[in-house]
Amino acid sequence: MCGIFGTIGDDAAMRTLEGLRRLEYRGYDSAGLAALFDTSDKDARVETERAVGYVSDLATKVNGRFKDSAIAIGHTRWATHGGVTEVNAHPHSSSDGLMSVVHNGIIENTSELLSEIGTSGYSMTSETDTELIVHLLHQALGDQRTPKAALEAFQSVIARLEGAWAIAVIISGMNGILIAKNGAPLVIGRSDSWVSVSSDPLPLYGSCSEVAYLDDGDIAYVSRENIDVISESAELSFAPHQGDYSPEDPGVFAHMMLKEIHDQPTAFQNAIAGRVSADGKNAMLSGFELDSNDLRNLDRINLVACGTAFFAAKLGVRYIRSLSKVPVEAYLSSEFPVESVGGKNTLTIAVTQSGETKDTLDALTRAKVAGGHISSICNVIDSTIARFTGNGAYLYAGPEYSVASTKAFTNMSAVLMLLALTLSDTNNPERARVIRGLREMPQRMSNYLHSEIDLDSIVDLLVDSKTVLFIGRGPNSHIASEAALKMMEIAYIPCIAYPGGELKHGPIALIEEGTPVIAIAPDDSHYPKMEANIRECASRGANVILLTNKETPIEDYCARVIRTPITDPFLSPFMSIMPLHLLAYRLAVRLDRNVDRPRNLAKSVTVV
Ligand code: AGP
Repeated sequence: MCGIFGTIGDDAAMRTLEGLRRLEYRGYDSAGLAALFDTSDKDARVETERAVGYVSDLATKVNGRFKDSAIAIGHTRWATHGGVTEVNAHPHSSSDGLMSVVHNGIIENTSELLSEIGTSGYSMTSETDTELIVHLLHQALGDQRTPKAALEAFQSVIARLEGAWAIAVIISGMNGILIAKNGAPLVIGRSDSWVSVSSDPLPLYGSCSEVAYLDDGDIAYVSRENIDVISESAELSFAPHQGDYSPEDPGVFAHMMLKEIHDQPTAFQNAIAGRVSADGKNAMLSGFELDSNDLRNLDRINLVACGTAFFAAKLGVRYIRSLSKVPVEAYLSSEFPVESVGGKNTLTIAVTQSGETKDTLDALTRAKVAGGHISSICNVIDSTIARFTGNGAYLYAGPEYSVASTKAFTNMSAVLMLLALTLSDTNNPERARVIRGLREMPQRMSNYLHSEIDLDSIVDLLVDSKTVLFIGRGPNSHIASEAALKMMEIAYIPCIAYPGGELKHGPIALIEEGTPVIAIAPDDSHYPKMEANIRECASRGANVILLTNKETPIEDYCARVIRTPITDPFLSPFMSIMPLHLLAYRLAVRLDRNVDRPRNLAKSVTVV
């Protein structure tokens, strides 16, 4: 979390503000900017501005004041150390105002370093771990503000830090930016007019023609003229960075989340394009370093993921188990039991939209150290995880900006189904049916999204709820979990999801007159048992909201019905999730929540 952007070149601060806007999905509780105008003036104080809130709040405060700056760094924050206040917002500056730092990550030996700083006469003005970096650097550098001395002093400070970081520093009298990376991403971009540093390559589309990724442990002094790198790994190498930045523009939709829900038919089409044959007989997910034979002969496949991606992974496990014999399980990345399930002839696949999730990266690293193969199913091209694994399959969902993941969930599930088909025996009788279903899905999704999905009366029912219970069985138990997570994260209503079979083992205690229960019950082998669950809830006074594609008398027991199209039972999760994502969206809008930037969350979670 947190986004860092820095620029050397014309109107550096304004470009940095634009970079921060593009990085805002990484954290948005506060933002700040530091800039130098005349880099030959050794006594010029670094100009700074900070604001609680969004980058737009910072831009309002800046109000053109930083125009014509020569060099700038900026930050958009997701608080880890210290509350969300202007004082804790980055940049943090030395007490003489001659250097400023921005930082992403967590310094773990903060207490130890703080007491050291204190005894040397430095005092902290914020509650952050970042501020100590600037004091340590100020102490190490003294008065010799030259690039060479600064790089050496910076190196000595970095050597004392424990934890994870991406750091950028500007110092008066110097025409470059000091940067360091360890466990948090940092990339350098350059063009004829600018050199930039950024937490990810996305903001650099359109302004930098080439980019280079720093490795963990790298420290550098970046200026227009050259880049001095201290690195233990291979030399910094620039690669062309072509493409356009697609702005976060909801177009005709009110929010990005709504747009992204409606992107799904196209996104799904892109996920299967070239992976499903036109005659509908074959499906193949390529891109893995192991060929399909080796994949089939693995001792096990582990899927590691967090949040929504984890629920897609759970669904993927069901598909793989139904179509192949390869032992497979999905694990929350932060709970990955590598000691028991890693090792030789295993494959651990990260399932991730952003490709930056630190818990997932850590799980992969542990799998690699244990001697297993690693791979990824990821949306963001060239993200940290995609580069770390070096093999795997992209989701091709297109950029997903809303913090609440929707189209990525669908594409993860689709790509995992393609993996299941790749692992399956070509004589498997289910294959042809599933492949046909996949090919038909984009059109079916589009038809459904264009139909009248009337959710208003359900929103009326839910709007004052203290809690919402979601139940489903089989593959739709994971849809229940995903739908509950989504409603909770954007509507801020506590939501609980359980497989229907577990209802009697605890959650039924929650039910009283009017408790909303969303029951996902498409026409499949689980339906009769779901019907029993619905009766159990309704007879205790629950307002059951039934999601089904079946004409059924059980509707008489339900307060509302969400109708989905008839589909192959295997593919029903793709249909079930769309109205539930929409329902979470509509409820959040009714409650006047910030749908695309829900409180306390960030789009990519790069701290553990
Ligand atoms: C989804 O709506 C969430 N915001 C969150 O659970 C997310 O899915 C999780 O953090 C994993 O992110 P990733 O797919 O980028 O790894």
